[in-house]
Amino acid sequence: MGTGLYRCGKKFLWSDEQPFTILSTRCICGGWVRSVRSQKNNLFLHVSDGSSLEPLQVVASADLNTRGLTFGCAVDITGSLEKSPSQRQTVELQAHHIKVVGECNPVDFPFKIKGHHSLEYIRQFPHLRCRTNTFSSLLRIRSEATAAVHSYFRDNGFVQIHTPVITSNDCEGAGNLFQVEPAGSDDIADKDDHFFSVPSYLTVSAQLHLEVMAGAFPAVYSFGPAFRAENSQSRRHLAEFYMVEAEICFTDSLKDVMKLMEDVFKSSTAHLLSNCAEDVWLFHKSISPGHQDKVDSMLKRTFNVISYTEAIDILNRSAQPFTFSPKWGCDLQTEHEKFLVKHCGNVPVFVTDYPYDLKPFYTRDNQDHPRHTVAALDLLVPGVGELCGGSLREERLDLLKARLARAGLESSYAWYLQLRQFGSVPHGGFGLGFERYLQCVLGVDNIKDTIPFARFSRSCLL
Ligand code: 4AD
Repeated sequence: MGTGLYRCGKKFLWSDEQPFTILSTRCICGGWVRSVRSQKNNLFLHVSDGSSLEPLQVVASADLNTRGLTFGCAVDITGSLEKSPSQRQTVELQAHHIKVVGECNPVDFPFKIKGHHSLEYIRQFPHLRCRTNTFSSLLRIRSEATAAVHSYFRDNGFVQIHTPVITSNDCEGAGNLFQVEPAGSDDIADKDDHFFSVPSYLTVSAQLHLEVMAGAFPAVYSFGPAFRAENSQSRRHLAEFYMVEAEICFTDSLKDVMKLMEDVFKSSTAHLLSNCAEDVWLFHKSISPGHQDKVDSMLKRTFNVISYTEAIDILNRSAQPFTFSPKWGCDLQTEHEKFLVKHCGNVPVFVTDYPYDLKPFYTRDNQDHPRHTVAALDLLVPGVGELCGGSLREERLDLLKARLARAGLESSYAWYLQLRQFGSVPHGGFGLGFERYLQCVLGVDNIKDTIPFARFSRSCLL
């Protein structure tokens, strides 16, 4: 008889004999013990190997050597896979041999066998939280969502670009950059002291590098880390997060950018709901009850579109006692974003055409608008607020030059101006915060619970 490697999620990944039958097959299963109970002359274990939320039930007779076997330990089990007499699972492993490969002292282990551990509690143990059901589900969902995003872009003819992590530009001009120099270079007096001869930073956005590539490819995207030195402890800001960014050419309409954003959101979410249903269900059931309905409604309904000017009017007409009173020319605050989403029936809403002075130098000037605005937009979603930022890019050389000159940036962006001189086309794109996307789909309140290792001000554990 052949030997199979049992994976809880995928059943069998490997066998040395074909054809392979599931039952009565000799199996090897490596995993971590999630529960132990004894009944009559048997021990019943639940073993998880991380491939699925559903553990493997293992039945061991009392005469088997189970020394060191406790909740949390790592085991290697050989046995035969049998039909389970219980309704709770279809198969179970009748153990022939159990080897404890890594002991675990349950008294010191921060998670308890029947304990309900909140996301806040498990967040205190970034090195151990992947052992909990909730966080291992989150990690599988994150992995599947990554695959969904890549397949969306691949299926739609986009070329993936690996943009640099270290850069000399501050794309957003917001000044929240992490500077990069070798350790110990505290006194930088002139440019020769810089490692790269110029000040260099961890990227805040891949956009400008994608725009370079949009000079040769009509549709490009990237999916990588972005870094912002935000001195914020908020539930939706990280210092290191992942951003999905895309750039499309031969468009002079924000509608194309909005359509792409809506498509990426809906297609990735639909993929996730069908390929990771059990894990997503855990969140919708126990972390954010009722959230499934909100997600269904986001998938079914067309996203709303309002202009920034309309948004300010809506906010001002409401009787809402905002902490910051809404004013044309000022950024929308989180409280305003929340109100607008609610006002739009808890369906995502695009807010378009922001004041010229609120958006970075690259945004396209709406010269025909009565108030001075740019063709920029944000996508606001329930529970999170801003999920994406995007715009048409200023492709007209004279306007771009004037804008850069006004900001004193003309010499640093000489290369960017050249992009407009050699075969430039109207183009636009957006960036989606991947952790905020997971917050939105799963109903997770704090962004720190959507990333394997959260970095935020005053915290860089591990
Ligand atoms: O709106 P942002 O700043 O847009 C850009 O960076 C553009 N250059 C993107 C582009 O057009 N290619 O950032 C995009 C998204 C935000 O909407 C938000 O979801 C996320 O990135 N984001 C953050 N997520 C977590 N922590 C932070 N500190 C974030 N800052 C932005």
